[in-house]
Amino acid sequence: MKRRNIVAGNWKMNLTVAESKELASAVLAEIGEGFSGCEVGVAPTFVALSETGKVIESGSLFLAAQNCHFENDGAYTGEISARMLLAAGCSYVIIGHSERRQFFGETDVIVNRKVRKALQEGLNVILCVGETLEEREGGITGDVVTRQVKGGLDGIAGIGELVIAYEPVWAIGTGKTATSEQAQEVHALIRRTVAELYGTEAADCLRIQYGGSVKPSNAAELFAMPDIDGGLIGGASLNAADFAAIVRAAC
Ligand code: 13P
Repeated sequence: MKRRNIVAGNWKMNLTVAESKELASAVLAEIGEGFSGCEVGVAPTFVALSETGKVIESGSLFLAAQNCHFENDGAYTGEISARMLLAAGCSYVIIGHSERRQFFGETDVIVNRKVRKALQEGLNVILCVGETLEEREGGITGDVVTRQVKGGLDGIAGIGELVIAYEPVWAIGTGKTATSEQAQEVHALIRRTVAELYGTEAADCLRIQYGGSVKPSNAAELFAMPDIDGGLIGGASLNAADFAAIVRAAC
């Protein structure tokens, strides 16, 4: 089964609007026409979405948000809904990133409500899962990731084009990448879990990104694994040349 690789730059809480526009232009210039074989996008902060969207409109990068709320509107000070993101030009939203789970108390139940709402509104989802170092050392990586996948997708009838990102927490921003074998093992487990829930055809079509210290130097090896279908890139996505090199490795 040949799945189309998907690479997204998660810019996290970095860059002003002007800096985001600048980086988006630089990314387009660096990757040129070199990404027809895969899907590539960027996830700026909420305030930079519209302006960054205008820059990438002419190219074929997709625009993603880093989070959303689970209601469309209402008295939720400081929050942004999936409906608003769609109207701002987003086609994807990242949900359940470990930083959201760790620093903002997002549980599987909250993540699930967000995934449901985003899909309902027609926004595609990158659902993030991944174990902490303690969980890996405790030998419960499989249990944690399976629980997060099942929890995140609870009650969802069909996953359509939803993407899952496996991001081991101990590899995020630490410079420690999971070996391609370690990543492959968890990716295969995620695919088996999705097969259990939605059947083998849906599981075969599901794209599973790896995230956690992906760099130009390790991207090709990771993306060569049978169940790794691209990457969710943090730090390296803030440098246009590095991001472009990773995109080339995926395409
Ligand atoms: P780094 O690439 O900086 O490790 O971050 C990965 C990540 O969290 C992407 O969502």
